[in-house]
Amino acid sequence: MIAITGATGHLGRLVVEDLLDRGVAPSEIVAAVRSPEKAADLAARGVTVREADYTKPGTLETAFQGVDRLLLVSSSEVGQRLGHHANVIEAAQRAGVGLLVYTSLAFADTSPMMLAAEHKATEALIRESGLPFVILRNGWYTENYTGSLAQTLQNGAIVGSAGEGRVSAATRADYAAAAAAVLTGEGHEGSVYELGGDDPFTMAELAAEIARQSGTEVVYRDMPTEEHVRTLVGFGLPESVAALLADFDAAIAQDYLLVESGDLRRLIGRPTTPLADAVAEAIETVESA
Ligand SMILES: NC(=O)c1ccc[n+]([C@@H]2O[C@H](COP(=O)([O-])OP(=O)(O)OC[C@H]3O[C@@H](n4cnc5c(N)ncnc54)[C@H](OP(=O)(O)O)[C@@H]3O)[C@@H](O)[C@H]2O)c1
Repeated sequence: MIAITGATGHLGRLVVEDLLDRGVAPSEIVAAVRSPEKAADLAARGVTVREADYTKPGTLETAFQGVDRLLLVSSSEVGQRLGHHANVIEAAQRAGVGLLVYTSLAFADTSPMMLAAEHKATEALIRESGLPFVILRNGWYTENYTGSLAQTLQNGAIVGSAGEGRVSAATRADYAAAAAAVLTGEGHEGSVYELGGDDPFTMAELAAEIARQSGTEVVYRDMPTEEHVRTLVGFGLPESVAALLADFDAAIAQDYLLVESGDLRRLIGRPTTPLADAVAEAIETVESA
């Protein structure tokens, strides 16, 4: 059986869909979720739904019984993640899981991003566990930008401190396809994949693409990190969130989200989704809302 944690989240759901599209029998897929009631639609389609709360180790060990391959989708609770992931790794050991696949972050071992520390520490725990593993170091999601398209169009600007840095963003669906390929494929054990989209772009290029397709003026306003934080706080964001967002841009400015390995396109066996397609889809969503 193949289990996916966080299967009611954006990425986890896409992995389940991809596995089903590849012909994996629904009963062979375990949606390991914090709230089984949120996965009622998956259960109705024959997917095995089990409770797997990262904060409740007992649920994890039970959920992983009979599981050969497990995808640990990194927890969304920044600051609590290492403890969550440690619980999953220990439960996977106790349940005798044959392969642990983990969604990490691009260049987790060397990245200066605040977010990288918990991923780096999780990777170390996985190696120490002795479990056969695959590390999927996911780069940035294109949806980090297209998800706020309505606001971008309203403001006519993207504000940031990423400078001329380029981001190899890819869609969640692309990363999900890579995870499904590893979960159903052979010969990946022990690999660390650096995953990112084929065509990196700067924030100015992103703004220009949104402007081109929407017919609305959208510019990129670059600013120093401190001003970026102050601007975001001025928009009403808590200081800690503003600092985290500015930290993302600092990493972009230093090319820590520029991934040129080609691992993602090789794993999915096709080019990654172009930015233009992702922007077109987001504009359609905004216009139909
Ligand atoms: N590369 C990037 O650009 C990027 C961007 C954002 C996030 N991420 C990382 O990638 C992960 C997946 O992304 P996503 O878009 O799918 O995020 P998401 O939609 O927020 O999904 C996160 C999942 O984690 C689950 N979760 C949180 N706390 C849990 C707990 N205590 N026990 C069990 N499950 C728990 C959530 O469960 P519920 O469904 O019950 O809420 C949800 O299913 C995120 O969690 C984050 O670590 C990466």
